[in-house]
Amino acid sequence: MIRWGIVGAGNIAHTFAKDMALVKDNAITAVASRNLEKAKEFAANYNAQHAFGSYEALFKSDTIDVVYIATPHTSHAALSIMAMTNKKHVLCEKPLGINSAEVQEMLSKAKEHKVFLMEALWTRFNPTIRKVKELVDNGEIGAIGYLKADFAFYGLDRDEKGRILNPDLAGGSILDIGIYPIFLAYILLGMPDNITAKSNFHKTGVEIQTSMLFEYQQAQALLYSGLTSNSEMKAEISGSTGSIYIKRRWHETSGYTVQRGEEIADVDVGKIGKGYTYEIEEVQRCLEAGLLESKLWSHKNSGDLCTLLDTVRNKAGIRFPFEA
Ligand SMILES: NC(=O)c1ccc[n+]([C@@H]2O[C@H](COP(=O)([O-])OP(=O)(O)OC[C@H]3O[C@@H](n4cnc5c(N)ncnc54)[C@H](OP(=O)(O)O)[C@@H]3O)[C@@H](O)[C@H]2O)c1
Repeated sequence: MIRWGIVGAGNIAHTFAKDMALVKDNAITAVASRNLEKAKEFAANYNAQHAFGSYEALFKSDTIDVVYIATPHTSHAALSIMAMTNKKHVLCEKPLGINSAEVQEMLSKAKEHKVFLMEALWTRFNPTIRKVKELVDNGEIGAIGYLKADFAFYGLDRDEKGRILNPDLAGGSILDIGIYPIFLAYILLGMPDNITAKSNFHKTGVEIQTSMLFEYQQAQALLYSGLTSNSEMKAEISGSTGSIYIKRRWHETSGYTVQRGEEIADVDVGKIGKGYTYEIEEVQRCLEAGLLESKLWSHKNSGDLCTLLDTVRNKAGIRFPFEA
């Protein structure tokens, strides 16, 4: 049994906890919140035996093997490091850190303390995405020339102090949802030779929409993230002999369509729960094998992804107040 500790009892922690119930040999044994009553309520909801009123108390306890960091972006590095210093394995929500300096420090702490660390880039473990990557890598649609992926929702009506619109919590679209289209281009096409990016900004100072062009030797990827409207969120990958369309919303998809000439195949791959089940299983598989990082979403992958996010932010002029 893998014993999980949840850190931060917010929105994604609840969704993750519901999927946890669908995975065998894994259980939430403890939860920590800044508010003990909130932790107790969360623990009661998901049958966790232990509730803590501080994150540090959970890290120091012997009730868990691995923690799931589900707090705002700006706290990922410090909390992951605190957990690892207490010899706890870590699954940390995306983005792993808010910039490369943070991510590299986290990766080096994982090595120093010899604990498992993985960014919760759940889409990487989605069975449809794994299948699409296999098809592309096997040349099933020929040489990729074009990729299009987006992630957008209307978020301008959110609380300005909340994590989406608050610059002090590294708000904006790029680290929250822009990370997904960048991830897709990265796993299918690798590191681009050149990046162009342009953003618009909100009155709070956060970036609210960003268009990106990733250029490769023989391909271009058009990527977009935004908080100003909903978008279709169907991803397209086209190659010299065919195209793959990942069904909406592609980052949590359960199928794809492949087209070669007039021939169209619609494939329903399916998924279990919302899809967080697969990252939980990956952590379990790694811990049982004694691995300190996942081969599917490695430390290098998280480092590369953060480098791409840094570059996009540089090109588009996206800076957080605490980085000035
Ligand atoms: N993988 C996914 O699909 C997915 C989806 C949504 C979000 N996320 C990621 O998960 C993280 C959390 O997002 P969320 O939507 O769950 O956020 P949320 O609903 O605001 O919850 C975050 C929790 O973090 C804790 N927290 C600690 N310091 C905080 C601070 N200064 N301000 C506010 N909350 C603070 C709070 O828990 P306590 O009060 O209990 O301490 C809060 O409930 C983000 O990094 C985001 O990128 C991932």
